[in-house]
Amino acid sequence: MDNKYLAKALRYVWQKGKWWLFLSVTLSVVTGCFPFLTLWVSKELINEVTRFIQSSTKEYALLLLLLVGQFMLSILSSAVKNIREYLDKKMECTLDFDVQQMILDKTSSVPVMYFDLPDYHDHLQRISGGGARFLSPVRSVIDMLQAGISLFSYALFLIVIDWRLVILSLVATIPIFYIQAKFGQRRYRLHLKQSPVARAADYYKYLLQDRKSAKEIRLFGLASFFRERWAEKFMQNTGETLRLEKKQQGSEVGLEAFSAFFYMGIAVSVIWLARTAKMNIGEFVAIIQAVQGAQETFTRISMLFAKLYEEKLFIKDFYQFFEREDERILIAAGNEPFPSTIRQGITFNQVSFRYVQGDKEVLSDISFHIHPHEKIAIVGQNGSGKTTLVKCLMGLYPPTSGQIKIDGRSIADIDENELHKNITVIFQDFIRYDLSVRENIAIGNIAGIDDLDRIRKVAELSGADAFIRKLPEGYETYLGRLLADGEDLSGGQWQKVALSRALFRDSQVVILDEPTAALDPIAEMDIFSKFKLLTENKIAIFISHRMAASRMADRIIVMKEGKIVEMGTHEELMALGQEYYQMYQMQAQWFSSEREGEREAVGWTS
Ligand SMILES: Nc1ncnc2c1ncn2[C@@H]1O[C@H](COP(=O)(O)OP(=O)(O)O)[C@@H](O)[C@H]1O
Ligand SMILES: [Mg+2]
Repeated sequence: MDNKYLAKALRYVWQKGKWWLFLSVTLSVVTGCFPFLTLWVSKELINEVTRFIQSSTKEYALLLLLLVGQFMLSILSSAVKNIREYLDKKMECTLDFDVQQMILDKTSSVPVMYFDLPDYHDHLQRISGGGARFLSPVRSVIDMLQAGISLFSYALFLIVIDWRLVILSLVATIPIFYIQAKFGQRRYRLHLKQSPVARAADYYKYLLQDRKSAKEIRLFGLASFFRERWAEKFMQNTGETLRLEKKQQGSEVGLEAFSAFFYMGIAVSVIWLARTAKMNIGEFVAIIQAVQGAQETFTRISMLFAKLYEEKLFIKDFYQFFEREDERILIAAGNEPFPSTIRQGITFNQVSFRYVQGDKEVLSDISFHIHPHEKIAIVGQNGSGKTTLVKCLMGLYPPTSGQIKIDGRSIADIDENELHKNITVIFQDFIRYDLSVRENIAIGNIAGIDDLDRIRKVAELSGADAFIRKLPEGYETYLGRLLADGEDLSGGQWQKVALSRALFRDSQVVILDEPTAALDPIAEMDIFSKFKLLTENKIAIFISHRMAASRMADRIIVMKEGKIVEMGTHEELMALGQEYYQMYQMQAQWFSSEREGEREAVGWTS
């Protein structure tokens, strides 16, 4: 069944490089014949030299011819070898590109839920060996073909002398064959076991090298802490690899002694044969060479088999990454369009949700309805399930039970692209791309990357334009320092870029999931009041764990431990005097009277 994947890999390589495969096979057939030719030429040469030395004639034409033949063979064989190496390298690059592209296509399109599974990351780590690893099983098969031809020619040579010689040289290699296969299997199992450890080591290394962690690593003096962790994981894998290597090399010493012993036996029988059959010296030397060659080729074939075994498992693992289907993660592929104008609104109907690897219900029995053009605030403490709710609405995580509907149409039936086009979310951890400011805004709708007029317009609306104009190169200013010497924006400025991004997308529903959490409450309210104005004809949802900003909403949903505990306007909820009221009171200190002036300045008055 592993052969199914190997066949698939062979077909794939055939598709990608018909010429490569054709030339490789042809050249390996040619190379496979070299040993026989070399053997034959050297046999003739030795005999001719002996004759030349012993006789008194000065005829050396044949001798010269054979010498030239030997010279040509060695040149030819090295030329063929180099040509093959170049062709392999070229093919490797082609495959490397193609295979990496396949992996990138997959990783950028799998359901977001996969990223929660450590197992997925391990699998990805295991298969990211690039094109070289993909080519090597094919090369092994071709090398086997070549070795097979060489072996056949040696055998042919020996059979003419005595068929028992063939059997003897074969028997000598059986243990080697066995050991190679066994260690191949062990190496692969070790590889499977090591990948989580390697991933941990990579993580610690990343922390020590990344810009984002550089500050904290220094301030908290964490360098040696993480370096030790890295060293521990690194050494754990290295230690295991070396132990296995030692075992294998140890067993090979024993085996080689065994082969040498056999070889001695063969040498003795050849000498005996030479005596009884009255062989000439050329034949004698050629037989010894043929036996040795046959043995070496056998060993080579057994090594190739072991290698192929390991490679086959890799190929299987590789393809299984693409076939990966977790029964816990089944996302229906809907194909219905999104309503061109939302008329009834968004309905959550008894929605419950649990993360694949989590044991507690993160959302339980959530039901509410949002009317068209309504402005909703969702408040609740950290961990109460607000972000999860949005992830469910975006179709990133399908509810464990219940439905989410838009104008009566279940989001599971709506085409994913349509859904994401019509609902825009800016998450708390929105990405700050190492790109120009213009591009950072255009991310919202990448097709409009050159539409500077619109980009400028949304930036004006969100209030980003004012500071962007002051940047050294305006909208073309590069942000970040990873790829060039760019500018850094403050948290608040980044929020405005994010808001512009959301507006640039121009969808029917816009959600801000605490992208303002890093701001002070006054600045947050500024963003929210702007957001409210800018989304006049849309459904807008803003999420915050701060109560004050939510006053501007038409309706407030209060979440606690995955449930909706209260729902209503600010006044209603205050009058209720429970959850919302308490949270509001607790946070009221932020709005002490001395900041009253600031509140008016941003257009928020009670
Ligand atoms: N990817 C995840 N896998 C497992 N549990 C998660 C994941 N994301 C969030 N949670 C858990 O779900 C709960 C709700 O989280 P979240 O929706 O992010 O809350 P909020 O946005 O209200 O702060 C938390 O207990 C959190 O630990
Ligand atoms: Mg959240």
